[in-house]
Amino acid sequence: MSEIAKVVVVGAGTMGHGIAQVCAQSGLRVTLTDVSEGAVAKGVSAIDKSLERMVQKGKLAAEARERARAAIATSTDPAGASADADLVIEAVPENMALKLDLFRAISARAPSHTIFGTNTSSLSVTEIAGATNDAARVIGLHFFNPVPVMELLEIVRGLGTSDATTDAARAFASRIGKRPIVVKDSPGFATSRLGVILGCEAIRMLETGVASAEDIDAAMELGYRHPMGPLRLTDLVGLDVRLAILEHLHRELGEQFRPPALLRQMVRAGRLGKKVGRGFYEYP
Ligand code: CAA
Repeated sequence: MSEIAKVVVVGAGTMGHGIAQVCAQSGLRVTLTDVSEGAVAKGVSAIDKSLERMVQKGKLAAEARERARAAIATSTDPAGASADADLVIEAVPENMALKLDLFRAISARAPSHTIFGTNTSSLSVTEIAGATNDAARVIGLHFFNPVPVMELLEIVRGLGTSDATTDAARAFASRIGKRPIVVKDSPGFATSRLGVILGCEAIRMLETGVASAEDIDAAMELGYRHPMGPLRLTDLVGLDVRLAILEHLHRELGEQFRPPALLRQMVRAGRLGKKVGRGFYEYP
């Protein structure tokens, strides 16, 4: 396929707005979409905050910020916006039915060369591909939070993903300054499968009183040089997001991924992590 110039990002939440931002900063035209004007506006305001932070730190020139902002359009109609897209990246909640509906609608409108990317962190790319009219053009493009900072792009090949689509995904990763790894479609891929098991064990340790949240995190931050301990990281990712991943991996891979009762309780109590100001820690 010809080079990617226009990207549609579906979902303006934590991941979607970050993805839109890095694409725009890399000179691509982006349309950021979500279900309501309010949700899109929230995403755009998070992009503004992140760009401002980079300008303040001297990591981005003011003109580059203006160029990036000018490259971002918004919409509440993902299928309509995809009518001239080279690449669509879906970053909606981890709900298979939602993703299938979305890809069905988008692939009915997108041109025959459009690549369909999903930012799912654990669900089957092969199953998602079944909702489109061409599985060869469907691929996992798994980003990490905060997207402007994290270097990795985990590329996930579904059963029907073509080599041409994988090559285009690799080229896209280089274009946006990310280092790609390529994994085959399997529950949790490489990153979530390893990442959630550590978080899950940390929650079980907290639940059984092995140590305080601060000490469990310090164990990995100071003892293993992780930039963030597993509980603080669960707060960053979102407890609801982690629970959804664990439930899926528990079904697919077995007992070691059974979600801890404490995690369920905290999600029920609305302690979803940093995004709501409260998780294992408080965020004033
Ligand atoms: N936009 C732009 N820049 C940002 C930013 C953002 N949203 N967030 C942080 N930064 C920048 C800061 O400005 C800072 O820049 P300088 O180095 O120039 O000062 C740098 O990143 C570091 O940030 P801070 O100084 O604020 O704080 P820190 O040193 O503690 O780093 C962190 C913060 C980058 C988040 C670091 O703690 C970290 O890497 N944590 C681990 C994150 C991680 O593991 N993410 C993956 C989660 S799993 C996932 O996302 C996938 C999934 O499927 C759920």
